[in-house]
Formats: sequence, structure tokens, C-alpha cells
Amino acid sequence: MRDRLITELKPFGIQLSPAVPGADVRALPSRLLQGLVREYKLVLLRGWTGVSSTVDLTGFGEGLGPLLEWPYGYVSELTEQDDTGDVAMHWDGLFLPVVPEFRILHCVVAPPPGGGGESTFCDTGAILRDSSPAMVQRWSEVVGGYRGKSAFYDAEINAPLVDRHPHSGERVLRYVEPAPGGPRHSFSGLSDVELEVTHRELTDRLYHPDYCHVHSWQYGDLIVADNFTLLHGRTAFPDRSPRHLRLVHVAGAANPHLVG
Ligand SMILES: [Fe+2]
Repeated sequence: MRDRLITELKPFGIQLSPAVPGADVRALPSRLLQGLVREYKLVLLRGWTGVSSTVDLTGFGEGLGPLLEWPYGYVSELTEQDDTGDVAMHWDGLFLPVVPEFRILHCVVAPPPGGGGESTFCDTGAILRDSSPAMVQRWSEVVGGYRGKSAFYDAEINAPLVDRHPHSGERVLRYVEPAPGGPRHSFSGLSDVELEVTHRELTDRLYHPDYCHVHSWQYGDLIVADNFTLLHGRTAFPDRSPRHLRLVHVAGAANPHLVG
């Protein structure tokens, strides 16, 4: 790939940039990009052109697979809403019939330096690989029950905390960090004391620099992230942040956790 530059990100993921700045990202072979995201879990595409409008973004996303359609269309416009605080770690589509494999984010307006609004990504496969068998065994007893209601769904799921990637079979964590404004939750499988310990162990690891990649957005950045392995969130930003991201989801697998 002499016409492309690859840089490793910390603690995981890669940045892929063109050797000649301004090359069209749509010329990247889709299979190559799919393979890189599946291997490295997160690919930052920086320095490219070719994606500026919502039509460009959906066209680019369709190259990676069928897009999930929401009642408002394929593209979610992520701008400042009422809640400017942290967004707790979660995975997307937990209440949908189909869980997206990839999230594709495009930065339309970046926050100013120091303006917060970083995206956080946690590699749960790495957490499990680095944790003791006894700890993973205890975590494997836990089932997270979540209930979500919005204009688009009213659903309940039971998700094993330690689950399997639907394609690779790799062990992954499926966890929605309890937080104000999040879905209603109830965890079972361990005593209350053990569950309390487990929540603390998880929180320590989800944000640990060995597992958590914090991305500061620049104008034009595109990120393709694995939604089956990673959990994601966002740091807080001040009121009236100009931050504007667009998001599309590439369909992945039938949701195995839905109740009823
Ligand atoms: Fe999300």
C-alpha cells in the first residue's frame, strides 16, 4: 500500500492517510477497508477527500455493506442536544432487530481545541484477553437486562456480559454502563456485592489507557469502528459547542438478545 500511509493509534486502531494528501477516499477498495476494520477494530481516515455531503457518506458506507435505515433516513446528525455531559459506554443498536457491525462517523464541524466532545472507544476483546480466567469466569455469570423506549423502539434485551463476536467468535463484552439518562437496567447472575465489584472492575478497565482510545476530532475525519467488539461513548462538551458529526451504521447480524 505504497500510496497509503498507515500509523498505529494508541492503544488500538490505525490511521490510514493518502501518500498524496487530498486523494479520494472512495477509491479505497471496500474489501481492504472491511478487512482493516475487522483486524484493527478502528480505522481513522484522515487527509482524504470525496466525502463531504450526506449523499457522499451514504455512498461510501454502502461500499461496506447495507446501511441501517432509521425512520428519519440513513444519516444521524450528531449535534449538541440538551445533554452536553459525558455519554456512557454502550454499543449501538442494542434494541434493534439488526445490530450494526460498523459505525461510520464523519466530522463536519470539529470542536475547538480543548472544547471536549471527544469520542471514546473501548476494545473489550483486549480487556478479556488480559483478564484472569477467574475474573472472566465470574463476569460470564452476569446477564444485563436493559429496557429502552424511544420514538423508534420499545424493547427489552437480556445480554450476557461476556458474549461472542457474531462473525469471529472472539469473546467480547456487551455492557451499557449504568448512567443517568441511560436505559433501565437490571443485572443478574451474581450477588449484589459481587455485582458491585464487577461494575467497578468494568469501569476501571473501560476507561483505562490500555483499552480506551480517545479521539479528538478534526474537520473531515472519517472513522470506521467495529460495533461488535468495541463499546463507545463521548466526553462532555460545553454549551453551544459547534461539534457536528454524521453517523451511518452498516448492518451486521440479527440481534440475539431481544426478549419476546
Ligand atoms: Fe452510540
